[in-house]
Amino acid sequence: MILVTGATGNMGRHLVRQLREAGAAVRAVTRNASKAEGMASAGVEVAVGDLTEPAFLDRVFTGVDALFTLLEVGDPKAVLAAAKRAGVKRVVLVTSLLAQTLPNGFVGQLSLGCEQVMRDSGLPGTVLRPWEFATNTLAWADEIRGGGIVRKPSAGLPSPVIDPADVAAIAAKALLETGHEGRTYALTGPAELLPQDKIRVLSAILGRALHFEENGDPEKLEQIRLTPDQVSEGFGVCFMTSPGVLSTVENVLGRPPRTYQQWAASNANAFR
Ligand SMILES: NC(=O)c1ccc[n+]([C@@H]2O[C@H](COP(=O)([O-])OP(=O)(O)OC[C@H]3O[C@@H](n4cnc5c(N)ncnc54)[C@H](OP(=O)(O)O)[C@@H]3O)[C@@H](O)[C@H]2O)c1
Repeated sequence: MILVTGATGNMGRHLVRQLREAGAAVRAVTRNASKAEGMASAGVEVAVGDLTEPAFLDRVFTGVDALFTLLEVGDPKAVLAAAKRAGVKRVVLVTSLLAQTLPNGFVGQLSLGCEQVMRDSGLPGTVLRPWEFATNTLAWADEIRGGGIVRKPSAGLPSPVIDPADVAAIAAKALLETGHEGRTYALTGPAELLPQDKIRVLSAILGRALHFEENGDPEKLEQIRLTPDQVSEGFGVCFMTSPGVLSTVENVLGRPPRTYQQWAASNANAFR
């Protein structure tokens, strides 16, 4: 049985589907059963509860032998200790590539701390360090549905965004196959894009004129300067220096990573 935390999230939804397609037994965690609608009929066991609650942690690992977990779902020490007590044999942990490129920032520190907790637990684990998710541009949906102008304080820096479905595909491999234990995978998409590039892609897919505008709001620019890692997701704009395009997804999956175009085409309805 594979326990998937974050099962209703950007990565988790893909992972649950991919694991079921591979014939694995999956238990999906959510705090809100309505978010897991359709999973039970696809043969997924849905566990409703909060991973910050010790009683839920004790019960949810019964019969589990592999775990997929993220940075922000509960206290990593408590989650991994419960996994260890239950005899879990394999863990896939998602942190952030900021552990490498901005190690002293908030997210970098959180990532490194969490990875250390996993190493200290002694559980055989694989760390996935993805770069910015393509899904961050869902933060633009209201402005796109409205006037079609996305206004942000800055256009930020070129970013090789990754489709969370690819992070899920790597996670599925590391959960189902041996040979990934002890590895850390740094993951990016196939091309460095600026917001203007993504807007062009969305415009072509939606068949509407869309524009990106910098409004240079001094207060927000200062916020970006001080905590680029913490504000990027909310703006849907990357303010951190790119790690460059990495070949890890292709090396592990044997196919190139999905493009922003592919992600946008699959998610066009979110912008309509
Ligand atoms: N966005 C980026 O650009 C980026 C880049 C690199 C790494 N990451 C990392 O990716 C992770 C986010 O992944 P995602 O985007 O797939 O997730 P997401 O869409 O943000 O969803 C969060 C998931 O976590 C679950 N969750 C949160 N708190 C919980 C709790 N106390 N108990 C049980 N479940 C809880 C939620 O479940 P319910 O709401 O259903 O309960 C939901 O499934 C973070 O660790 C982040 O640091 C993100």
